[in-house]
Amino acid sequence: MFKKIIITSGPTLEPIDPVRFISNRSSGKSGYHLAMEARKRALGPITFITGPTYYLPAQVEVIQVETALEMRAAIGSHFRQANVIIMAAAVSDYRSLKYYPDKLKKNNDRMTLELVKNPDILLELGRHKRKNQILVGFAAETEDIFANAQNKLIAKNLDLLVLNEISEANPAFACDQNQVYLVRPDGVRKLEKMNKAHIAALIWDEIVSLAGRS
Ligand code: C5P
Repeated sequence: MFKKIIITSGPTLEPIDPVRFISNRSSGKSGYHLAMEARKRALGPITFITGPTYYLPAQVEVIQVETALEMRAAIGSHFRQANVIIMAAAVSDYRSLKYYPDKLKKNNDRMTLELVKNPDILLELGRHKRKNQILVGFAAETEDIFANAQNKLIAKNLDLLVLNEISEANPAFACDQNQVYLVRPDGVRKLEKMNKAHIAALIWDEIVSLAGRS
């Protein structure tokens, strides 16, 4: 059905020195289930670009990266051929301005690490998106979730946004179950709390229906 599908997954890992890094709690389960579901339905060849994770789908092309910049470069060389791009990766918003080639010493009681913003890959993809490409993003919000989601959808030129409301009852990260909303320019659909595998199936239903319209 699709010429090529790109799915990004996992966290990115931004090194500080040879033994330390900045990262986040993304397990890579959402991206993994999206790839497995697309494979099961034989929707098209999949390029799975992932930060460090245990969840690597079998029988798909896997490109393992560490940093946001590496992820951006890997996507860049596949983007033109793809007609579905799902950014399920939890890209680190910041990286250390400097990489310290020697392990940092604990000399002082305080230390300051200067961070620099990573590129917003999804925003860049949205700017380059062509008519025959479907772009899907993820968002984790804690307040004004629908207003923020709609703004993100427009700002990043997305066709679909999978919205996580992060709360104590729904941590979303690094767990098997999740409650999400599927946000499209024409409306919001609430999904009940369910397994990430089941959510992946409903996300693909939505993408396939979007593809049928264009
Ligand atoms: O703006 P926010 O970080 O909430 O957006 C989350 C979405 O943007 C996710 O789909 C994530 O993969 C993507 N993202 C990105 N590059 C970044 C930060 C987030 O592509 N630097």
